[in-house]
Amino acid sequence: MTTHAANPAPSSSPPATSTTDSVAELRDLKKTYYKPDGSIMVEALRGINLTIKRGEYIAIMGASGSGKSTLMNILGCLDRPTEGVYMLAGRDVVGMDDEELSLFRGRTIGFIFQAFNLIPQLTVEANVEVPLFYQGIKPSERAKASEYALGLVGLSDRLGHRPRELSGGQQQRVAIARALVTRPSILMADEPTGNLDSKTGQAILGTFEDLHRQGMTIIMVTHDDNIAKRCRRVVRLADGLVCEDRLVENPAVV
Ligand SMILES: Nc1ncnc2c1ncn2[C@@H]1O[C@H](COP(=O)(O)OP(=O)(O)OP(=O)(O)O)[C@@H](O)[C@H]1O
Ligand SMILES: [Mg+2]
Repeated sequence: MTTHAANPAPSSSPPATSTTDSVAELRDLKKTYYKPDGSIMVEALRGINLTIKRGEYIAIMGASGSGKSTLMNILGCLDRPTEGVYMLAGRDVVGMDDEELSLFRGRTIGFIFQAFNLIPQLTVEANVEVPLFYQGIKPSERAKASEYALGLVGLSDRLGHRPRELSGGQQQRVAIARALVTRPSILMADEPTGNLDSKTGQAILGTFEDLHRQGMTIIMVTHDDNIAKRCRRVVRLADGLVCEDRLVENPAVV
């Protein structure tokens, strides 16, 4: 069989398909939680369609129980959908086995949890090194990358502290550094400012905006309209479906 080379496109032309600059594609994605007896407990996501492009800064909103965390956990490859398509960075995530998925997740995604999830016994620097440890990176490189990531969030003077010796906002910044240390293509955060006072929350958002300006793709769950106003796109869920998907005209950048 003869193979035909594609016509070379002029270098100035836009990509042939929108998928080249899409980081994540969800098609009719569903997540159902079942009871131990196999009967349906909750249909948490009932058919989500979403395309996320490189460099977007997205707020995921919706009432309590609408499916935000369920969606975020699937986007972040911490959980799998029951049905549907999820392509992340051009790869079919649904078809990967657990080991493949966890390696891919480690390379592609930085995930920030609402509750920080730092390891209390480890220093700030060691906490940030954890994802690199799991990737088998050697200690000297881990230390360098960790110091760099902590510099990005303004914590270069706290490397040897334990998490309990830091304020809530500083702990969250350590969690952000840990999410950034692998140089992920996407940063995902579930209510990253939910446990912080509003001033500290604003500072964290400032960090996100800096990262967004540098081209990072950011997806964040929030309940707060004032936070969503500072993003570039708002996706609202209701009862497991996308009920609103709009661009923010004039983001309220600080
Ligand atoms: N592990 C689970 N087993 C069974 N049902 C679950 C599980 N996790 C979530 N659910 C249900 O799925 C639905 C969506 O939950 P989810 O945590 O995604 O909501 P949410 O939008 O993040 O809410 P919140 O704003 O309160 O955090 C809810 O009805 C919830 O009870
Ligand atoms: Mg939630």
